[in-house]
Amino acid sequence: MKREEVLVTKEELNIQNEYAKKVKEYYDTQGKTPKALVETFGCQQNENDSERICGMLETMGFGFTENEDEADFILYNTCAVREGAEMRVLGNIGALKKIKEKRPELIVGICGCMMQQESMSKRIKSKFKHVSVVFGTHSLYSFPEIMYKAVCENERVISRIESEGRLCEDIPVKRKPGPSAWVSIMYGCNNFCSYCIVPYVRGRERSRDPEAVIAEIESLAKEGVKEITLLGQNVNSYGKDLERDIDFADLLLMADKVEGIQRIRFVTSHPKDMTDKLIATLPKVTKLCRQIHLPFQAGSNRILKEMNRGYTKERYLELAEKIRAVMPDASFTTDIIVGFPGETYEDFLETVDVIEKVRFDSVFSFIYSKRGGTPAAKMENQVPEEIKHKHFDILLDVQNRISREINETYSDRIEEIMVEGISKNNPDAMCGRTDSGKIVNFPKDDTLSVGDFIKVKITKISTWSLAGERV
Ligand code: SAH
Ligand code: SF4
Ligand code: F3S
Repeated sequence: MKREEVLVTKEELNIQNEYAKKVKEYYDTQGKTPKALVETFGCQQNENDSERICGMLETMGFGFTENEDEADFILYNTCAVREGAEMRVLGNIGALKKIKEKRPELIVGICGCMMQQESMSKRIKSKFKHVSVVFGTHSLYSFPEIMYKAVCENERVISRIESEGRLCEDIPVKRKPGPSAWVSIMYGCNNFCSYCIVPYVRGRERSRDPEAVIAEIESLAKEGVKEITLLGQNVNSYGKDLERDIDFADLLLMADKVEGIQRIRFVTSHPKDMTDKLIATLPKVTKLCRQIHLPFQAGSNRILKEMNRGYTKERYLELAEKIRAVMPDASFTTDIIVGFPGETYEDFLETVDVIEKVRFDSVFSFIYSKRGGTPAAKMENQVPEEIKHKHFDILLDVQNRISREINETYSDRIEEIMVEGISKNNPDAMCGRTDSGKIVNFPKDDTLSVGDFIKVKITKISTWSLAGERV
């Protein structure tokens, strides 16, 4: 698609703004402030989409609630990456039927990656009659129009646009207040890993213009944001679709210059796009956190080929070494799939071998889940559930040992952390994060605010987190 066709035009956006106004007027004439509850499943990209949805809802006059019984509109933003994620959403959506029966004026909606799949959108249409707003990822920018039809015209709206994906700037973003923010730099994916649904539900790679990205970061810095995470399914292919000479390394250096931002992170990068230029640039990005997330998925070369990943085990190990050479104290994390079709015990041992060689700080491991419409779903040699689980458990044991060993090296170290708030598991403790991404719990201190940078001495370690005292 040409760039002009990718970008949503000002005229198209104005039409949506008009719809948003009409929804607001509708509620104003009723003398009420409607309340929305938006729940997000899936990855940070979906979280960021939900922030846009909330931004649009706000222009439509909505306030927000966490309480289902108080909500006028409940929207689930869904993920399709594994069957488990889909089942959870379907269970939750089913449970809303009772609330809808009690309060027929409630609008129930479901959107996101699951709804971009035709079969799923049809299933909701025929089996979940209490859901009256359904839209896929490509319909996001037309959300005001969808709401206008649902609210003002009392219609059941099912919107599933077939598209390679558009790019829409200037949608308002309503973020949770705090020192950290997600900034999407690109959308979609061109990689078509054979197990993965994402390219089918998110469209082709499209990069935002660097000026738009930097302007967003600058405005976040003005609002007091200290840490940004650059987001995309494959951030290190940033810029390939732009008709100008810019890549991810260039964008990192531009982001590094924004005053007020103190930490920069990015997810996710793909090993096949980890160029020498990018690796050489990493240490020059002064605000870049010492943390690299680089999914390798599997250790066996045969499986990597079947997965269509575009690199070998040896190449991955070489990349990890190159990155460590320029960022010696960086923490490493990765994604792994266990039980891809045809994966034998010997193949699986190759995965364990990569874990032992790279020594990741932590690993996001997933049991392979068959996704309709992907090439791997049609492969005949699917691995039995019990074997997948057995291998998965072995992997967890190996990784937990390594995570703990790495965390032990933090003992007695003095680390700078950014304060994130009250600890999740202990109301008397606060927590923050090292720039390597480790969570540190420490005794509550009323003089501190969220976003403060402090030094702590690590006094206690566990597999998942650290504890320390302010020094
Ligand atoms: N674009 C990112 C993340 C994609 S989804 C990347 O390429 O790294 C996040 C993770 O979900 C993937 O890295 C992969 O490990 C996992 N995943 C994707 N499809 C899956 C499937 N069908 N079954 C199990 N895990 C899957
Ligand atoms: Fe899925 Fe592969 Fe794209 Fe990641 S790179 S989103 S795993 S297809
Ligand atoms: Fe899930 Fe969609 Fe993200 S499928 S992982 S929410 S891109």
